[in-house]
Amino acid sequence: MPGHVVFVGSANVDFVMRTPFIPRKGESVNAGPFLQSFGGKGSNQALAARRAGADVTGIFTLGDDVFSKAIMDLYREEGVDARYVRMNPGERSGTGIILVDPNGDNLICTSLEANGRMTPEQVEAAEPAFRTASVLMLQMEVPDEANRTAIALAKRHSVTVILNYAPACESSLPVDRDVDILVVNESEAENLTSMPVSGPEAAAVAALMLGAKGPGTVIITLGGQGSVVCHDGVTRHYPPIPVEVADTTAAGDSYCGALAATLAEGMALPAAIAYATAAGSLCVGVEGALPSLPRREAIEAFLTQRFS
Ligand code: RIB
Repeated sequence: MPGHVVFVGSANVDFVMRTPFIPRKGESVNAGPFLQSFGGKGSNQALAARRAGADVTGIFTLGDDVFSKAIMDLYREEGVDARYVRMNPGERSGTGIILVDPNGDNLICTSLEANGRMTPEQVEAAEPAFRTASVLMLQMEVPDEANRTAIALAKRHSVTVILNYAPACESSLPVDRDVDILVVNESEAENLTSMPVSGPEAAAVAALMLGAKGPGTVIITLGGQGSVVCHDGVTRHYPPIPVEVADTTAAGDSYCGALAATLAEGMALPAAIAYATAAGSLCVGVEGALPSLPRREAIEAFLTQRFS
């Protein structure tokens, strides 16, 4: 039985180039093929959850340019409930510039555009969606006030709050008991703890520190080293599922979407983490954000193939 997840976050148009290396300050580089795709952490995660089998409501703020209309078409095609998506007249949708090197590592720069003008009123108007949802998923690419409003609605309707504190940024949004599950990568964990976080041992220390701020569960994703999870004060290392890396863009979004979808349908945390890990691994094998988000059948076939 699918669970219902509400996503509040960004929706972007991504411009992706493959480069022989990530340029340094002042350097120009001739890139390889160019790919235009759709992205934004909120939208990626919503589509990842939808493909992983959830009923999904998206609360996003777009502009009214040609890309915005294409993004709305995409939600229709993929079956994302977009009734609370707003298209702001005369504005542009968010934009991501993404460079990907031959190892699949990337550099991402985003201009928030319409995402930066999501209002608490827009989120408040989506209260009916919170009545049937079991999970709310947030990231850090919309104004703090919009995220705060979403958290208040989630608390009002006993909805589990998952905060993906990405990208690392200065913010007034507290990581406290209102956040049920916190998901960060190593650099985001460093930003929140002010300690170096590299590898499972340091991640376990950081996860305990972050858990002490209030979230019952803290997940630190470690790329090729899996993830560390701190649940009710107990830490555990989940190993990676090794794969050939083409492009790491949206691996975290794929992970978060699958995590939200499986938790919303009532899966226990360790099994949900296995699904999320598989979704993240499958994502890095394919170029781009949207094209790389795997569907439920692919996630299950991959888990069966690797673990039977
Ligand atoms: O996580 C990847 C995403 O980050 C990209 O799609 C880009 O748009 C930025 O939001």
